[in-house]
Amino acid sequence: MAQSERFSNLPEYAFPRLRNLLSGLEPGGDPVVMTIGEPRHALPDFVAPVMAQSIAEFGKYPPNEGAPELLQAISDWIGRRHAIAVPPAQISTLNGSREGLFNAALALCPQDKNGARPAILVPNPFYQVYAVAAAAVDADAVFVPATAATGHLPDFAGLAPELLDRTAIAYLCSPANPQGAVADVDYLEHLIELAERHDFLIFSDECYSEIYRDTLRQAPWPWRAVWV
Ligand SMILES: Cc1ncc(COP(=O)(O)O)c(C=O)c1O
Repeated sequence: MAQSERFSNLPEYAFPRLRNLLSGLEPGGDPVVMTIGEPRHALPDFVAPVMAQSIAEFGKYPPNEGAPELLQAISDWIGRRHAIAVPPAQISTLNGSREGLFNAALALCPQDKNGARPAILVPNPFYQVYAVAAAAVDADAVFVPATAATGHLPDFAGLAPELLDRTAIAYLCSPANPQGAVADVDYLEHLIELAERHDFLIFSDECYSEIYRDTLRQAPWPWRAVWV
C-alpha cells in the first residue's frame, strides 16, 4: 500500500536536532539541562493523596466535555485571573494543550479560504505541533520570523494582504517558546483587528502564562500591566 507522505516534509523535530548539535561537545562547567522539558521536581505533597482518594474514578470514562466541577473551577479561575467571564459551556477540557492546538486546526481549518489553499501562520521558531497541524489539514504552513528584529514575536501585519486573505489560522505563542517574549495589549489588539479584517482565527497558545519571575499587578480592563 502507498505510504502517506503527509508528514514527510516536516522539519526534523527540535530535540534530535539539539542532540546532534550538542553531540561530541564537552560541557565547560555544570551543564544546564535543556532537553525535552520533563518535570524535574517532585509532585506537590497534596497531589498523590488526592489521586489515591479518587482512584476508583480513574476506571471510568470522563464526560467528553469535561466534568462539570472541573469546567466550573476553570471558569472561576479565568474570572479570578483575567477578570473576564467565560461560562463553562465555552470551555473544553484537554489532555494537555498540545491536544487542543492540533485538534482545533482539524475542526476549524476550512478546505479552502476565499477560493485558495488555506494558509496557517506559524511563528518561527515554533512549537512543532503547529506545523504538524497545518500538514494534517493540508494547509500551507507559513513560517513568520519571530526574531530580535520583530521583538521576538511574529509580525503578522507585515505579511502580504493576499496571503492574509487566504489565512485561516494564526498560531501565537505568548509567552513565546523559546524566546519568552510576551504579547502586550497593543500587540493583541492589532492582531485581533488584523484577524477581523482578513477573517482568520487566532489560536493563542498561552501554556506558559503561569510561569513568571516577577509579580504583575493588573488594572481593570483595558489592562495595562504594571511591574511591581
Ligand atoms: C509552546 C508549547 N505549547 C504547547 C506545549 C504542550 O504542552 P502540554 O500538552 O503539556 O500542555 C508545549 C510543550 O512543550 C509547548 O512548548
